[in-house]
Amino acid sequence: MDFKVKSGVGLCGEVSLPGDKSISHRSIMCAALAEGTSTINGFLAGEDCLATLDAFTKMGVDIKIDKNKVVVHGVGLHGLKVPDSELYLGNSGTSMRLMSGLLAGQNFSTVLTGDTSLSIRPMERVVTPLSLMGAHITTNKEGKPPLKITPSKELNSLTYGLPIASAQVKSCLMYASLYAKGPVVITEYLQTRNHTELMFRKFGIDVAVRLIGDTREIKVIPPQSFMATDINIPADFSSAAFLILAALITPDSNITLRNIGINPTRIALLDVLQEMGANILLSNLPDEYEPCADITVRTSRLKGVELDSDLIPNLIDELPVLFIAAALAEGQTNIKGAEELRTKESDRLKAMSNSLKGLGVHFKEYDDGIRIEGLNQAFNTSNAGMPFKAASIDSYGDHRIAMASAIACTRAKSESIIKNTKNVVTSFPNFLDVCKEVGININKN
Ligand code: S3P
Repeated sequence: MDFKVKSGVGLCGEVSLPGDKSISHRSIMCAALAEGTSTINGFLAGEDCLATLDAFTKMGVDIKIDKNKVVVHGVGLHGLKVPDSELYLGNSGTSMRLMSGLLAGQNFSTVLTGDTSLSIRPMERVVTPLSLMGAHITTNKEGKPPLKITPSKELNSLTYGLPIASAQVKSCLMYASLYAKGPVVITEYLQTRNHTELMFRKFGIDVAVRLIGDTREIKVIPPQSFMATDINIPADFSSAAFLILAALITPDSNITLRNIGINPTRIALLDVLQEMGANILLSNLPDEYEPCADITVRTSRLKGVELDSDLIPNLIDELPVLFIAAALAEGQTNIKGAEELRTKESDRLKAMSNSLKGLGVHFKEYDDGIRIEGLNQAFNTSNAGMPFKAASIDSYGDHRIAMASAIACTRAKSESIIKNTKNVVTSFPNFLDVCKEVGININKN
């Protein structure tokens, strides 16, 4: 599938967006292992989270889904059944990495597979610490999927410093800790998203977080069992980021995004955009276990920025959006310490460099980042004054590259094409409908 993109002006409206992907995965995993029935509202029914949901159905969990409401009849920590086939997880690295920890504690074997993109993503990062706990888990020769997990007599307690700032690795070990014979203590040197910590606590699991200088120590005490609970999932800030970008860079825009997750470990993009001069306002902050707010964005003139690389884990999925904002800003933007971008659904540094090249932006790509020369966009609504060249851009089958590039192309001199966009449904199934609702001109080709 390809997208055809045309320019537009005056984006407006108030929209609701799909649920948070990270929280949706975690909600299914906890609810499946709880005692009793959990109702999840705001679940993201995108391909990635549905892959997690299907995997638990295959392991005997009764799960009913009706649009964004999911009812999970938990089977308890030791109630999962051996699936009658391998567990295919599509494009979803989060499913594979988080579930590998949980499955290492089962008394049956599982094989985890994925699509061509997931099949070349690094898995040693979870296999190494799980093996230290005594898990039996293997990859192919290159450290890539399939993951083969066989029962181990028991999982040991573990004290582990994360060598890379990864919430997926941290969460994998936290799910494994549910089956460990003693506490699991994880140290992170840069804070990563803390949805698993919050979700565990919501389910009554004992998680202690201690700050030691700049590092955080997360300690999970393995429970005997834990009870079901109901979960409200806010909309995904990572999906909101595409709409925020669109409103910032399109003349005469003013949009409001409702009930967006604003967990502080996820929204560094807001701080960075505000530092760049963005007009963004948060309002209506209800008191939920995961914080959320309405976000209002107006067209803004942006300046380039030196990105503090300590922030990278808190905006890792939003970097493609930041690249486009930087490309239209006045002056240079420098981003370093972002080598993890090369291990995502595509090599996102390479993929975004390719997009920027197509759009006519000057940049220098580094192993771990990029320097972008902003075009200093003037808000001229005539096509001749549009900042970007019309382009035909390959998204490399990566949902976030497809959406960031498509929004960029709404500021191109004439119609543009984004290729290979079918994976947008992994995280933002109604992207085209939402775009239409606020006046963004992106359609199926
Ligand atoms: C995720 C963590 C991040 C992020 C991914 C989702 C999660 O990955 O890029 O989209 O839900 O834990 P890493 O933790 O590997 O950086």
